[in-house]
Amino acid sequence: MVKIAPSILSADFCNLERDIGRVSAADWLHVDVMDGMFVPNITIGVPVVESIRRHTDMFLDVHLMVDKPARYIGQFCKAGADLLSVHLEADHPARIADALRAMEANGVKKAVALRPITSARAVLPYLEGLDMVLVMTVEPGFGGQRFMASQLDTVREVRALIDRYNPACELEVDGGVGPANAKAVMEAGATVLVAGSAVYGAEDPSRAIEDLRKEGGPG
Ligand code: DX5
Ligand code: ZN
Repeated sequence: MVKIAPSILSADFCNLERDIGRVSAADWLHVDVMDGMFVPNITIGVPVVESIRRHTDMFLDVHLMVDKPARYIGQFCKAGADLLSVHLEADHPARIADALRAMEANGVKKAVALRPITSARAVLPYLEGLDMVLVMTVEPGFGGQRFMASQLDTVREVRALIDRYNPACELEVDGGVGPANAKAVMEAGATVLVAGSAVYGAEDPSRAIEDLRKEGGPG
């Protein structure tokens, strides 16, 4: 069944514990780390991940939107991340490979992320060793943006590569996902749906999570 990963970017950071509690029905918790360089926005860093880890047992899916992420892998692993995603556009291939090796050494699940401009084939050099590929369906940087339907082609292409080279690999779709497109995203091959505003903007976040699962789920 499809996993739902609410993004705390849409939470109230002064009431983070309360807002994490509101999405406890979800499968994973998506944590958006932004450095003001790789993306124009600045969000949260290592100390916040550490604090979140102390307050929840949820699986922490940490999306690093930072330049040269290999510099920070050790720190985020120690802080308690369960999975880290690094953007392929954020460094040279050799340094992306270093970042993935550091995740492996720390026993954390490994993912690469693709901006909308990046082609599906860019995952190929890494795919066999990955636990997840993250396909962005908005330009990374902000929550609440409009879903880019043209990215469904990339999702389908990544799905085909995963089926061929590493069928156990998860495929996460992030950006503008909600009730209007969850079914299409799932049909294109996603196994994890990130949802920020669609969950936190709903009157009842647990219900919104259930509805997304039903939209995306089989049958
Ligand atoms: C955007 C982030 C997303 C975002 C999702 O750069 O990576 O995770 O928070 O939020 P929504 O679902 O509102 O687009
Ligand atoms: Zn994200």
